[in-house]
Amino acid sequence: MYEFEDIYNNRVMLSFEDHPFSRNPKHVWVICRFEDQWLLTSHKNRGLEFPGGKVEFGETADQGAIREVKEETGGHVSQLQYIGQYKVDGREKVIIKNVYFARIDKLEKQDTYFETNGPVLLRQIPENVKKDSRFSFIMKDDVLTYSLEKIKKSNSI
Ligand code: GTP
Repeated sequence: MYEFEDIYNNRVMLSFEDHPFSRNPKHVWVICRFEDQWLLTSHKNRGLEFPGGKVEFGETADQGAIREVKEETGGHVSQLQYIGQYKVDGREKVIIKNVYFARIDKLEKQDTYFETNGPVLLRQIPENVKKDSRFSFIMKDDVLTYSLEKIKKSNSI
């Protein structure tokens, strides 16, 4: 279990165990790989981030992850791997999010990308992402650092 603070000084707990905080988390975050690049989305307010969002009524977290990737990037998930879960003790509420690694086999142009401007492909996530204003706050705590480390260890990247 890792414990750290996000950029808003909210306490974050991250674990790579099997659903340590909730069997049915309401949020998902999907670290996507298309060919030899990372696939992100450009959120209209927050900036560049891996796709994700809220699980809808009647869907599982895994289904929500696949849907969010499609909506925000046009990416079709060919492989979805659960990585871990994190919990943020926010000022107003506690949120619990599943983290996934997804392989994308095709990118299809969408009529709308919802609250984002659509897909962005990057060869590398910059070393100084935490200080880079193009990136969303979601990319600026140690969830990204530890999750990428974990993904790189167990996948050929
Ligand atoms: P609604 O108003 O209910 O639609 O949601 P919201 O816009 O308040 O956002 P959400 O429920 O997704 O998140 C609430 C708060 O939790 C955010 O303002 C953030 O402070 C925090 N939060 C959400 N997702 C993340 C995340 O991935 N990482 C971190 N560190 N904080 C997050």
